[in-house]
Amino acid sequence: MTEPSLIVAPSLLAADYAHLADEARSVEGAADWLHVDVMDNHFVPNLTIGLPVVQSLRKATAIPLDCHLMIEAPERWATGYAEAGAVNVSFHAEAAADPVALARDLRAAGTQAGLAIDRDTPVEPYLELLPHFDTLLIMTIKAGFGGQEFIPALLDKVRTARRHVAAGHLHLRIEVDGGVDEQTIVESARAGADAFVAGTAVYRADDPAAAVRALRAAAGSASGPAAGSAAGR
Ligand code: DX5
Ligand code: ZN
Repeated sequence: MTEPSLIVAPSLLAADYAHLADEARSVEGAADWLHVDVMDNHFVPNLTIGLPVVQSLRKATAIPLDCHLMIEAPERWATGYAEAGAVNVSFHAEAAADPVALARDLRAAGTQAGLAIDRDTPVEPYLELLPHFDTLLIMTIKAGFGGQEFIPALLDKVRTARRHVAAGHLHLRIEVDGGVDEQTIVESARAGADAFVAGTAVYRADDPAAAVRALRAAAGSASGPAAGSAAGR
């Protein structure tokens, strides 16, 4: 299946957890992916949901699920999310013993493999690993909680990764996560991101589907590498 050039992924972290199926359906037809934040109270202090909920969500919505694992020992759990039908499974570089081996396992399990980089982790040590991945998730906040303020300086990592991708002719989606709204999505797209996670900006809006469309329009209006101009520069 061909994917759109820009992906907007509402994050269920800001949704009503007692009504997840309804919250998912509220962005059907607008969202490209549905972002599911899995937190284990060890890798991050927060605790959210795990595999059984993702398995149920898969049946409750047609939107492809983008699972963001903020957990220790991702090698123990990640392929389960692939088998549950996720379109993309991202695990944290800081938590993985062998990121390339896990990326191979994820792809073999039929999903896209994502490498996530938290706020305080530089991207440079991971650039050489990128051919093994489909997605690079760059946190634009400290992982763990929604509703935090976007940190513009972290877009330098997006620029570095986008340049590396262009120079190496790699096929890689670069996803930003944290504090994304109608303003910061423009900066992110200009830096070279082409997938955008938004929790608060979508689920705290009166009309979540309209909020997703507004975000996509804003990202599409940005003239940057992801918008198709001057690739890599
Ligand atoms: C936080 C999560 C994010 C979170 C973003 O660790 O990874 O996906 O939902 O929420 P907002 O968009 O509110 O910053
Ligand atoms: Zn996330």
